[in-house]
Amino acid sequence: MLKETLINATEAGAAVLKYYFNNKGLKISNKEGVNNLVTEADHASEKAIVETIRETFPDHFILSEEAGEMKTDSTTKWIIDPIDGTVNYAHGIPICAVSIGIEQDGEMIFGAVYNPLLNEFFLAEKGKGAWLNGEKIQVSTKTTVMDSCFVTGFPYTYLDVPNGPLAVFDRFIRKGIPVRRLGSAAIDLCWVAAGRFDGFFEHKLQAWDSAAGFLIVEEAGGKVTDYSGKKYSPYQPQIFASNGIIHEEGLDWINDKI
Ligand code: IPD
Ligand code: CA
Ligand code: CA
Repeated sequence: MLKETLINATEAGAAVLKYYFNNKGLKISNKEGVNNLVTEADHASEKAIVETIRETFPDHFILSEEAGEMKTDSTTKWIIDPIDGTVNYAHGIPICAVSIGIEQDGEMIFGAVYNPLLNEFFLAEKGKGAWLNGEKIQVSTKTTVMDSCFVTGFPYTYLDVPNGPLAVFDRFIRKGIPVRRLGSAAIDLCWVAAGRFDGFFEHKLQAWDSAAGFLIVEEAGGKVTDYSGKKYSPYQPQIFASNGIIHEEGLDWINDKI
């Protein structure tokens, strides 16, 4: 029932993304910072998702980006990003997705990321694997950072810290290593899971950006940690996801230890 509701809720949000995509009259406003956008599609997607969950599980705990925490005593928590990649969405760039993770007793057990504009539905179930449109997916088999293709993202507000996002980005591209920037952390993670990228790093994410995607990477055979190599938690900001083989070397590059 959990999985079925997850799929239904993800599809309900994705239908909203499709409906408003490229709509010239789309209402867009700014959140804190500069160009940190939210659209009426974010709110409508969130409403459709939450209503679908509530129909079956009225007492589950929900954490959703725009609405915030809807806390209950339940040990099952839904972590929702109604549109991951809102800036892309608002510009008519079809790299954005609905992202929903389900945590039970503190452990992520399901993840769904659906980009209806490219018709790509990624799903993972703890201990059972990860799928793209029903086909099992697997991370890449690249063995060195020099041969890898990475993806990263940058926070809305410039992060002026030692070894910050631009310093790390600079280190990779100076050596000729490709680093892409898609603008959707959930999709970045899924594309690592599908073997399109070999690694993804970002300095500052929120739980709803990565809750589903990190499980999808792990279930596709990859590894996800923070920058110190510790077991990943979506409640702290840093993430490094890789095919596992290049993980230790990738951390050395990120931490300027090469
Ligand atoms: C953003 C995207 C982006 C990442 C930002 C996130 P949003 O989420 O995932 O790729 O670089 O850090 O905030 O705002 O589009 O849901
Ligand atoms: Ca997001
Ligand atoms: Ca969002």
